[in-house]
Amino acid sequence: MRVLVTGGAGFVGSHVVDRLLGAGHAVDVIDNLATGRRDRLPAAARLHVCDLRDARLDGLQGIEALSGATIGIDQLFGLAPALAAALGLKIATEEGPLS
Ligand SMILES: NC(=O)c1ccc[n+]([C@@H]2O[C@H](COP(=O)([O-])OP(=O)(O)OC[C@H]3O[C@@H](n4cnc5c(N)ncnc54)[C@H](O)[C@@H]3O)[C@@H](O)[C@H]2O)c1
Repeated sequence: MRVLVTGGAGFVGSHVVDRLLGAGHAVDVIDNLATGRRDRLPAAARLHVCDLRDARLDGLQGIEALSGATIGIDQLFGLAPALAAALGLKIATEEGPLS
């Protein structure tokens, strides 16, 4: 499966990412690196440096990163505090809105 982890560079998120990669999944991470750290993530995880709140405000950079990260996603783990706000957005996948 292809899995998206928001807040994946954080304390909890990075452990989730490790477990998912270990189980053979492809992992995308959205994180603004506010408290997260790039060096927590193995090279196999694809990091999109993006603030979920920017995406909500239609920030171009955020939207582009979010779109790239959400295309083809099968499952989402939300560990960034702003996830609930972000889900108020239309996070679209090729299959339709992400829920
Ligand atoms: N650490 C714990 O013991 C614990 C226990 C219970 C619940 N939680 C909850 O789990 C979640 C993660 O906790 P944590 O300890 O890993 O925190 P953390 O700060 O280490 O991780 C949060 C991650 O989200 C990122 N982030 C924050 N705002 C963002 C935004 N707007 N856009 C993109 N990325 C953003 C941060 O950069 C960071 O990498 C939190 O919601 C926390 O309340 C944590």
